[in-house]
Amino acid sequence: MSGPAPIEFGWWLASRAAGVLALLCIAVSVGVGLAMASRMRPKLAARLMIVHQQTALVGLVAIAVHGITLLGDKHLHPGIVGISVPFVIDHAPLWTGLGVTGGWLAAILGLSYWLRDRIGPQRWRRLHKATLLVYVLSVAHTLGSGTDASEPWLRVLVLLTAAPIFFLFVVRVLPPPNLKGTVPFRKLRVVEVIPESATVTSFALEPALDFAPGQFLTVRVNGQTRSYSLSGPGRISVKHEPQGAVSGHLHTAVEPGDSIEASGPFGAFVLDEESTRPVALVSVGIGATPVLAMLARLVETRSTREVHWIHGARNGREHPFREEARELVHALRDGHAHVRYSSPDDRDLLGRGYDAHGRITADAIPAGAEVYACGPVEWVDQIRERFPDLRSESLTPARPKGPAVTFARSNVEVAWDDRFANLLELAEEHSLPAQAGCRVGACQSCRTAVVAGRTTRDVDGGTLICCAKPEGDLVLDL
Ligand code: FES
Repeated sequence: MSGPAPIEFGWWLASRAAGVLALLCIAVSVGVGLAMASRMRPKLAARLMIVHQQTALVGLVAIAVHGITLLGDKHLHPGIVGISVPFVIDHAPLWTGLGVTGGWLAAILGLSYWLRDRIGPQRWRRLHKATLLVYVLSVAHTLGSGTDASEPWLRVLVLLTAAPIFFLFVVRVLPPPNLKGTVPFRKLRVVEVIPESATVTSFALEPALDFAPGQFLTVRVNGQTRSYSLSGPGRISVKHEPQGAVSGHLHTAVEPGDSIEASGPFGAFVLDEESTRPVALVSVGIGATPVLAMLARLVETRSTREVHWIHGARNGREHPFREEARELVHALRDGHAHVRYSSPDDRDLLGRGYDAHGRITADAIPAGAEVYACGPVEWVDQIRERFPDLRSESLTPARPKGPAVTFARSNVEVAWDDRFANLLELAEEHSLPAQAGCRVGACQSCRTAVVAGRTTRDVDGGTLICCAKPEGDLVLDL
């Protein structure tokens, strides 16, 4: 290490040590703060919050020690003015001035934490983002005027802290280029409306989407969202549910030429295209949709696998994709189909439209097959007893409707569901641009104005959505 002898320059040495400690603490505090912008478990968020706050506090003290100990330096003689007023010191005035500016900014930001109620959460959040500037000024000061600026150990230290901070900044703070801070829904044009059965209709959409067979789209209609599996590239198939606001709208109001808002494709229930094992695509009712896309992909790739299409329907009128599935199975080199009707009517001919009377059970599935199953939860659970490794997608059972939660700015209305721990999770589920920091009710980053209604964590005109649930119908300014 170069520089004056430590014995002669004790004050100067202490100042150097405090400066390096300050830089490290600021880097850790900023890095942890950026990391906390991502989704994480509340316990982890609470621990990180403590690290974020305590390193910031130690960093502030170290900055003060860095400046005060410099007063004892008999060579620099900075004086009170030199360490407290930017750009007036003789030694490297620009770089030292940046350091002094960073020190004052750190002090102001630290103080603002205790005054955040007076400042207001929105303004405080904006102000708090300037913490990153403290780090940038610290690095500039260290490299521009630090005695050790040319030392490899210091450069490595700066690089080791700068790389993760830069990465987190890019990933967490800058909006993804295709989202620009808004909800990632896009308009898709309906080019064809295809009746598939008495209750199921397909909608062919443009542009066609790059998807993995088995995935689904989330569709938004009048602020309400529902997920529908893709039955083919750019085609969703929708069952008209008796009380379904979204499926009802799609079935009765959407025509070719209209647009719908959709997000995705999403979902991990996808065909393993590397496998060579026999495959069983098993479904009941509208559960045929994702496995039909898998069947089509097997045909498209000229698969030589043994493929079993196994489907259960009530009767011929409620049997979607009957002809399409039959043709696809015939196009396979080793394709087999087995269809059961639970309530066939007079028009259904055993041996032609369907193969057996009854429900699909595990006995219809060949042993040793790689099973993909889609249907009601209880039915999937029964199949799983015989085929514990099956991959499945369960059709969501009707849930008791919770209070209506309206995100007014985003024009999204959804029913509250107790599977969410708080309103922040609900907002994130629907890809809304909710702000969050600590996620445990400490930083107020998530504070959101309440337009109407009450929550379990109301605070002065708003609510902390990271800890709140609705108490009845609720309208949030988000
Ligand atoms: S995210 Fe910190 S209070 Fe809600």
